[in-house]
Amino acid sequence: MKIINSQSEYGLLAKLFHWVTFIVLIAQVPFGFYLVGLEFSDKRIDLENIHILVGITIFYITLFRLIWKFFNPSPSGTKNYFKGQVFIGKANHFLLYLSIFIITISGILKKLYMGEILNFIFFKYGFEKDNFVLAEAYYEVHIYANYLLITLVTLHILAVIVHHLIFKDRILKKIF
Ligand code: HEM
Ligand code: HEM
Repeated sequence: MKIINSQSEYGLLAKLFHWVTFIVLIAQVPFGFYLVGLEFSDKRIDLENIHILVGITIFYITLFRLIWKFFNPSPSGTKNYFKGQVFIGKANHFLLYLSIFIITISGILKKLYMGEILNFIFFKYGFEKDNFVLAEAYYEVHIYANYLLITLVTLHILAVIVHHLIFKDRILKKIF
């Protein structure tokens, strides 16, 4: 299997980006909801630090993924079964990337406006001043963007099922 994408199939690196992101997100979203339900304790602080580190890792992975996509465009869309189908597929992918960025950046801004110093893996950074109103606003964004992501992933998976079972095309082969 080639590292780079071909006309009809994603390459090894794009597949790796896709499936690593899927596995991490499938754990990170419920983990976030579980976290907020916990009583304040050392355990909660440790778990929150893990949530943040995993979140920042997803941010970097998505950034590298898009840079890779820029130099190595995705395989062409499957045949149109109805008008606008390719556009809808592209819009779904675009919004998936966007929602991941909104979630990670709003999470980062929430913590920075709380006046905390964040570990960005390669460096540490913090704002000079806190602003709890903005911190709360970004946290709201964090929550709503998670609902957006859940909706988009559901539509994404439903579309793949329809392609596979009803249109009977080779869409799954492109990504596996
Ligand atoms: C967290 C869950 C998921 C996310 C965030 C996600 C995200 C994405 C994104 C952004 C693309 C576009 C890649 C590009 O830039 O070209 C894509 C493509 C694709 N994904 Fe997913 N995906 C997820 C789960 C799944 C699952 C569970 C399946 C299979 C059941 C799947 C099957 C596919 C297929 C077949 C494509 C290629 C679509 C095409 O080329 O038209 N994805 N996914
Ligand atoms: C794609 C990555 C991420 C996902 C899917 C995600 C998901 C979530 C979810 C679902 C919640 C629960 C929201 C609620 O119902 O109140 C949450 C909470 C939270 N997230 Fe994230 N998050 C991600 C990345 C980040 C990042 C990068 C940061 C900060 C740098 C962050 C900071 C937080 C904080 C501080 C909370 C509140 C935890 C608490 O109250 O103890 N998240 N996240």
